[in-house]
Amino acid sequence: MDKEHRISICICSGKGGTGKTTITTNLAMALVNRGLSVTVIDGDIEMANLSIYFGVDKQVQMTLHDVLSGLVPIEDATFIHPSGVKIVAGAIDLERIEGTEIGRIGEIIKDLATDSDVLIIDAPGDLLLSTIYMTFTQKVLFVTEKHRASITDCSKVIHKSRILKKDVIGVVINKVTNISKEEILDIREKLFSIPIVGVIEYVKHLPDMYVSEMKNSQPSIQINKLADRIQEIMKAGEKYDVLEQVDKGIDITGKMLDQLKKEAGV
Ligand SMILES: Nc1ncnc2c1ncn2[C@@H]1O[C@H](COP(=O)(O)OP(=O)(O)O)[C@@H](O)[C@H]1O
Ligand SMILES: [Mg+2]
Repeated sequence: MDKEHRISICICSGKGGTGKTTITTNLAMALVNRGLSVTVIDGDIEMANLSIYFGVDKQVQMTLHDVLSGLVPIEDATFIHPSGVKIVAGAIDLERIEGTEIGRIGEIIKDLATDSDVLIIDAPGDLLLSTIYMTFTQKVLFVTEKHRASITDCSKVIHKSRILKKDVIGVVINKVTNISKEEILDIREKLFSIPIVGVIEYVKHLPDMYVSEMKNSQPSIQINKLADRIQEIMKAGEKYDVLEQVDKGIDITGKMLDQLKKEAGV
């Protein structure tokens, strides 16, 4: 695919447990089912679990952590799932995680940026890391629950995205048991009026890969609508240069890391 039609998306929420990894997994599968090539990166450096959602944690040998430590090149840590989704998983063992520095993440994303039609970064529930990851992608998708704490956290990340002038796809309200139109409008207002691009029901014992295991379920229908929307954005042919975006991110992140080091006195 031409560089103009590629897309990179950061999936964030500010809070843990809202459903970012579940949505990353299912959205990636829905997009791959449409014939697009898709790469997903587990950006949750400390609590990586994307490979578990894809059911391949036992098969993954090399991880993003090995790449960040300079042990292996990114190709060695790219696992091809039977669905076709390319997964850059994180390490799950605590001993492997401790001491890993994310300093080289920008270069890694740059290496991956031209590899697929769609690049998705599954961000952690952490404001600083979410902000860093957002700088590397063209688009941001937010996931919140309707609980006020979740909305407050999400609004902080959206606020950062506005400072960074990021292009926002919208927000998905996930794990919804009941919601009124008024509540949706209220959430939208609290989240700076960004588009609500999905409302996903709470489903007890939801399978991790529900788009393939529960094809006609409400969550699957919502994910497919979101995939349609992403395809439309891609087809609209907005002239994006994925690499240019990563370069901007590296620049901004460099400054942010310098600032953090200064604050930490290192
Ligand atoms: N729509 C949903 N209905 C019910 N449970 C869900 C739904 N979406 C996600 N979950 C569950 O919520 C938990 C947290 O999801 P996860 O995707 O790991 O969140 P995050 O990545 O934001 O921390 C998981 O147990 C997942 O199965
Ligand atoms: Mg997660």
